[in-house]
Amino acid sequence: MKILVVVGARPNFMKAAPILKAIREFNSAHAEWAETIDPVLVHTGQHYDAQMSDAFFADLEMPRPDVFLGAGSGSHAEQTAEIMKRFEPVLLGEKPDVLLVVGDVNSTLACALVACKLPKTSRPAIVHVEAGLRSFDRAMPEEINRILTDQLSDLLFVTEESGLQNLRSEGVPATKVHLVGNTMIDSLREYESCADHSSILQRCGVTRQNYALLTLHRAANVDEHEALIEVLEGLSDLAKLMPIIFPAHPRTHKKILELGLKDYVAGIRLIEPLGYLDFLCLMKNARMVVTDSGGIQEETTALGIPCVTTRDNTERPVTIEIGTNVLGGTRRESIAQAIRTQLAIRGRKSVPELWDGRAAARIVGILADRFMSADVLPARATSGQIVENAR
Ligand code: UD1
Repeated sequence: MKILVVVGARPNFMKAAPILKAIREFNSAHAEWAETIDPVLVHTGQHYDAQMSDAFFADLEMPRPDVFLGAGSGSHAEQTAEIMKRFEPVLLGEKPDVLLVVGDVNSTLACALVACKLPKTSRPAIVHVEAGLRSFDRAMPEEINRILTDQLSDLLFVTEESGLQNLRSEGVPATKVHLVGNTMIDSLREYESCADHSSILQRCGVTRQNYALLTLHRAANVDEHEALIEVLEGLSDLAKLMPIIFPAHPRTHKKILELGLKDYVAGIRLIEPLGYLDFLCLMKNARMVVTDSGGIQEETTALGIPCVTTRDNTERPVTIEIGTNVLGGTRRESIAQAIRTQLAIRGRKSVPELWDGRAAARIVGILADRFMSADVLPARATSGQIVENAR
């Protein structure tokens, strides 16, 4: 069974790495079977800077991509089209049984769309990992990518209960949908202790629990001068209490320099983007995290670190319902208020169901059951057993 796994942008790498590992483990656990799962890793090149891509491959011990498309940056239309043009011949040449895409970036939708429109004889089954999340805000490009990728997919793996409800209300048949947990948290659990060896705290001149960590990269927060000023002003009280370490996405870095905002708030320390282990170390030791990222809302929930999300909505409601996340909005007063609330919080909350480091094993068990040839069937366990074993 050939499976083509697509990655493209930074948040894809920690979601795909555990799946590739679980495939290797599955193959060695079933070495006597006549058939293996044969992965082909495709990197679209949506993210290409060493710190946005190579650093993650190294930290997450990922194999080198079998195919690199080098699509690069551009407007949404340019980037999506470039990925599609470069991906189609790869898919036609590789002829996989399964195409697996993760998350909600442009690479996710572009590759699913290519596969979906191939002639029936060459069309692989499309599998979406992290399906069903909805912010209900169609101004977010990621929301469009989520809705459309889910509509194109044959099998949908969901991280939290809200995803099941959203897919149900959009009419996706329940037989296509599986709640399996969160592969991003698989990576976190696997590398949590390695991150303790990072020297990033010393390099930043901070100590455990005595600093805050900031990330910002959404167009809505960083592209306009006024929007960025609002967020920075919202952080000014926190910056008086503790240093704020700010590893900035290249897009945010460029904007901050362009708008002359580098020293706008004393106490916010702008640094280059970090690799996975350094960032995980900074996150797990922070007093608080302020972010507009989707994944970081989940990672802080799993780590029990208070998080303020500088957005008006989230597609990951479980991080608010039982996790450590609160929405701070995008206005200075609301952000400052959310930070005050979170500063008062101590102690961890709950970790969502199935965020236990075994999501990728569950996914691979279900894929094997669905897509491996029937003639190996008698030799192996039923899906129920495979999934049960993975628990
Ligand atoms: C993308 C995803 C977003 C995800 C984010 C994580 C989409 C629609 N957005 O946003 O969901 O949260 O990745 O980082 O897919 N750039 C570089 N070097 C790089 C990559 C990007 O300098 O390696 C700069 C370029 O100026 C580029 C800009 O960042 O134009 C935006 O990159 P892009 O991939 O279009 O979107 P992100 O903002 O990274």
